[in-house]
Amino acid sequence: MSNLNIVILAAGKGTRMHSNQPKVLHKIGGKPILGHVIACAKALNPEKIIVVYGFGGEIVREAFLHENIIWVNQAEQLGTGHAVQQALPHLDVDANTLILLGDVPLVDVEACKGLIAQANNQLAILSFIKADPTGYGRIVRNNQLVTAIVEHKDATEAQRKIQEVNTGIMAMPNQYLTSWLSELTNNNAQGEYYLTDIVALAVRQNIAVVAEMTEDEFSVTGINSKGDLAQIEREHQIRTANKLMQQGVTLKDPARLDVRGNLSCGRDSEIDVNCVFEGNVTLGDNVKIGANCVIKNATIKANVQILAFTHIDDAEIGENSRIGPYARLRPGTILQNDTHVGNFVELKNAQVDVGSKINHLSYVGDATIGKNVNIGAGTITCNYDGANKFKTVIEDEAFIGSDTQLIAPVTIGKRATIAAGSTITKDAPADALTFCRTKDQKSIMGWKRPQKLKRPD
Ligand code: UD1
Ligand code: MG
Repeated sequence: MSNLNIVILAAGKGTRMHSNQPKVLHKIGGKPILGHVIACAKALNPEKIIVVYGFGGEIVREAFLHENIIWVNQAEQLGTGHAVQQALPHLDVDANTLILLGDVPLVDVEACKGLIAQANNQLAILSFIKADPTGYGRIVRNNQLVTAIVEHKDATEAQRKIQEVNTGIMAMPNQYLTSWLSELTNNNAQGEYYLTDIVALAVRQNIAVVAEMTEDEFSVTGINSKGDLAQIEREHQIRTANKLMQQGVTLKDPARLDVRGNLSCGRDSEIDVNCVFEGNVTLGDNVKIGANCVIKNATIKANVQILAFTHIDDAEIGENSRIGPYARLRPGTILQNDTHVGNFVELKNAQVDVGSKINHLSYVGDATIGKNVNIGAGTITCNYDGANKFKTVIEDEAFIGSDTQLIAPVTIGKRATIAAGSTITKDAPADALTFCRTKDQKSIMGWKRPQKLKRPD
């Protein structure tokens, strides 16, 4: 088989998005639309990927600097044929080219493979049947043979009734493409150089044209508006959910899952409704995620339970741990096995060793917590003096009583006990009880509570 070049057309303006951002940078599943097309292109192992960009200019290019792509600027958008002409200098003489559209994110790798297999010595186009074909190029056939693509605005009344339409995705030998492109004119209703005119040119030269029909309409749907964006987002999410279920993940409702990045799950993971996963999230075997959790860039090991309404951002959680409900793990949180983090607990840059518990209403930031530590309700590590951050160290088996403030930098020794309600400003020794409360407990007998003041009439 010949070598493969792929040209992705992405210079269009996307006027109907009503956005200052270039259309192809809007996101589907947390990834730019064009990123999905590039991923498909890469999966086909081409010699070259050439992206024709224009509107939005360098911003588009900068979003993909890490990719091995040849960027071609189409300064003026004079049509799809003109766009491919800009890529011509980069095409390999004896390769085949696959044309993809930068705004069709669900483009299917298998359909592309099928098309490429058809493109040796002929022109292969991907078509589909559209119930309302308005706006699309119509596939005109004569006794089943494709004879032309006629754009909607140039079509006759009879041609407008044709429901088989051009997806815009096509493949052909570069030798032919080069000669056809040199013959394009802009003699049509839109005054554009239409790529689709190459069909009639091929027919004139007795070069066969085949149209492969796809039934997966979403895989060829371009995004032109925020409505399209939302619809394709939903479809992408349902496809992601189906893949996860095929791998054995239990989803309480596949319609209420959002993966904006990559989610990989072990066996027997369960995800309740309305969870959002962002960036790279890995769940080990038998992980249970409660409803309404937002989890970003996290590694969650086997047998962990994340209870409802928990937020996790850039954290690692060891096996058999239980987090939430209503917990917030911020960047730099590393929990070893068998840890418990309960409701209204916020952790930031905190390393918590095996078996420790922070179960209620606490803030633990810039801290290292040893093994089997118990942190009572309402404990605060006071890590910030308004200018600088300081560290709290709590050693193995320490017990911190409720409503304690630990003024960092401070170290609580092994097996130390801190009495409830203490404000700890100095290191607390190991194996001792340390407390720091107001000295006297007073009672005022006969105390009357204040009465509500009567308002003057
Ligand atoms: C095109 C096809 C039409 C097909 C339809 C499918 C042509 C002439 N028509 O029509 O047969 O049914 O797509 O959606 O090809 N682009 C550029 N530079 C340009 C013009 C367009 O890069 O100068 C890019 C756009 O960014 C877009 C793609 O090419 O990704 C298609 O352009 P668009 O304007 O949407 O073409 P249609 O008129 O919809
Ligand atoms: Mg279009």
